[in-house]
Amino acid sequence: NASEKTVDARLLAICSLLEKEIAYYNWVGFYFKNGDKDELKLGPYVGAPTDHTIIPFGKGICGQVAVSNKNFVVPDVSAQDNYIACSIHVKAEIVIPIFVNNQNIGQIDIDSNTADPFTQADETFLEFVCQNVATMLA
Ligand code: SME
Repeated sequence: NASEKTVDARLLAICSLLEKEIAYYNWVGFYFKNGDKDELKLGPYVGAPTDHTIIPFGKGICGQVAVSNKNFVVPDVSAQDNYIACSIHVKAEIVIPIFVNNQNIGQIDIDSNTADPFTQADETFLEFVCQNVATMLA
């Protein structure tokens, strides 16, 4: 319906802004819990298309955040065993969960082509972004 389109358009605008303004944010997207299933479904994103539009809970960095409810900062993706590669150019990743009514309903996922680029400032900033997204979705 029309209101869902508006939400997706807003989420896409957030992705576009982040990818454009922050040089080391090279792929920016949202994953959300897929209905009642224990899996994530890709939402709006900016960057190279990915085959990983569905990610089971527990799989990859994203799937781990779906069950841990914690931020996951990966300075070097090549050092991770439980990692789903989307592009050979990606060197680092950050995933921040989104909570609505204390439920982990999804996440923002950012890939970087720069090694070890993410600091506590990225985590704090992206938590702020996710809190605003949560308010929009609530
Ligand atoms: N690398 C992620 C998969 C999603 S892509 O980065 C877009 C992961 O390991 O969960």
